[in-house]
Amino acid sequence: VSLKNHNTFGINAIADNVLRISSVDQLPELHARFKAQPELGFVFLGGGSNVILPDHIEALVLQIDLKGKQVIERDNNTVLVSASAGENWHDFVQWTIAQGLGGLENLSLIPGTVGAAPIQNIGAYGRELKDCFYSLRAYDLLSGEEHVFSKEQCAFAYRDSFFKRPESRHLLITEVCFSFDLDWQPELSYGDVAQRLKGQGISKPTPQQVSDTICAIRRSKLPDPREIGNAGSFFKNPIISIELRDRILESYPHCVSYPLPNGQCKLAAGWLIEQAGWKGRQTGNVGVYEKQALVLVNHGGATGMEVRALAEAIQNDVAQKFGVRLEVEPIFID
Ligand code: EPU
Repeated sequence: VSLKNHNTFGINAIADNVLRISSVDQLPELHARFKAQPELGFVFLGGGSNVILPDHIEALVLQIDLKGKQVIERDNNTVLVSASAGENWHDFVQWTIAQGLGGLENLSLIPGTVGAAPIQNIGAYGRELKDCFYSLRAYDLLSGEEHVFSKEQCAFAYRDSFFKRPESRHLLITEVCFSFDLDWQPELSYGDVAQRLKGQGISKPTPQQVSDTICAIRRSKLPDPREIGNAGSFFKNPIISIELRDRILESYPHCVSYPLPNGQCKLAAGWLIEQAGWKGRQTGNVGVYEKQALVLVNHGGATGMEVRALAEAIQNDVAQKFGVRLEVEPIFID
């Protein structure tokens, strides 16, 4: 089975076995299967927007297609909403806005599913998933038990969580619960979000207006995976010490950086990659997007190996030029 249409990078990975999970009732049987055959590997696939697949997958591919979303609790201050893992992320965000709930609007148009969103704590324009996160349910394929994880247990950090660690590989996220503050305040501090709204004469935007603005910004900068295969930002923005930043600034006074509360700072990886001469460059079937150097793209027929080689070449050049190691963000599946 080809997974070309099931990963946003558009890699033509061939899987020996694919199983669609459309009900949690299928999970106990799956657990029994893994208990009987522990050597049988498995790979979870949601929207495939944050994975780089190999040419051939022997492991059983579990396509998470669990559907459903509802308001589960409401009081004077907060509303709790739950959504199944296979729901499309952007559609879910739009649905919460239509329910009158603000909080996820800055995360509009991020590709992928609800169940994949906590794994890398998706973030954009000054908000992260963790800001609205309440809890999640995960099924342990090895033990056959279901667990509820609180926000603390998820260990969210910048593009990171407990679910990115190897010891959580057998945990299948089935449902995510979000908490919405009824006293919603827009977060407009990032980039030109506030300026764009002002340009339209909007001073007190609604969640829908913020969402529309974020969508417009994303469409102008980021490639649409339906047209050009990609996995969003390919590297994390590196977090370094102020001392190292100051040393870089001596040679590169235009280096883009943001101070962090803990005395460190974040560098714009896109800027580093652009300065290293990679923006818009193509090698074989892969390349660096012409409008955003942090995004690697598939020019058609890319393989996981080509993507890996390009990522390494960029990492080497940036390390040599700036003394900063870029960390890959999507997950490479072997
Ligand atoms: N920049 C360049 N050249 C480039 C790209 C960026 O010089 O080719 C500089 C610009 O000067 C800009 C700065 O980098 O001021 C930041 O660029 P941008 O606002 O486009 O954001 P980013 O840091 O490149 C991050 C996230 C994105 C998220 C945006 C907005 C990461 C790894 N990426 O990108 O997330 O949408 O901020 O919040 O943190 C993703 O994770 O897949 C993703 C798209």
